[in-house]
Amino acid sequence: MTTPRTPLIAGNWKMNGLQGDGRALASAVADFLKSQGAANFEMLVCPPFTLISAVHDALAGSGVKLGAQDCSTAAKGAHTGDISTDMLADAGCTYVLVGHSERRTDHRETDELVNAKAVAAHTSGLNAVICIGETEAERDGGKTLDVVKSQIAGSVPGSATAANTVVAYEPVWAIGTGRTPTIDEVQDVHAFIRSELAAKLGQDVADGIRLLYGGSMNPGNASELLALGDVDGGLIGGASLKPEDFAAIATSCPA
Ligand code: 13P
Repeated sequence: MTTPRTPLIAGNWKMNGLQGDGRALASAVADFLKSQGAANFEMLVCPPFTLISAVHDALAGSGVKLGAQDCSTAAKGAHTGDISTDMLADAGCTYVLVGHSERRTDHRETDELVNAKAVAAHTSGLNAVICIGETEAERDGGKTLDVVKSQIAGSVPGSATAANTVVAYEPVWAIGTGRTPTIDEVQDVHAFIRSELAAKLGQDVADGIRLLYGGSMNPGNASELLALGDVDGGLIGGASLKPEDFAAIATSCPA
């Protein structure tokens, strides 16, 4: 039996936006979701840490969820520059991205570290959006499924449930490039991810976990990506900075 999964349209703002931009963008997303009434999708925005407070205020009462882009594995203490999951929850976040490929590349984050960040998120009552995906060289070498398999084995903790975890598949070579895998490739990788999650966490949990596609999703390709059986939303970078594009992607979710 397949559990219904409400599509999640998530915006990763990355390192973009000053206070005024963040407030304006969040207000536009909030107004859009409010205008939808009973929407058949959920929306999430993940601003940089410096905008979380302003975005939290701008989203009040809208139903748009708030997330951070990273977290510490430590609960508190002498970790200069880090932000704990309790701090994020206290600031109004209910989600946190962990293991984005830009963190894996820029900060050499390993699967083990990403796993510990997901556990920290769960411990603080946050949803972890665990990001995985192969590089172009790995893809060209025919290793996509091997890479995804080992990232799931290493990055997804045993504490993952449908209520506290989302997995985002983002082929590294598709991020910010305007290139995407074919529709069939996206569905095949997502189905494989779900089968790997089932082997690790049980079929019921795997059937409930939302799987997002990320990498150059835009209003032009969102409909066919979001219609795929194992794609339960999108993790959107560039297009999430344009409120009209982000809204158009959301309204592309199948009814
Ligand atoms: P783009 O949508 O800009 O390709 O970014 C995807 C991404 O990395 C979201 O986390």
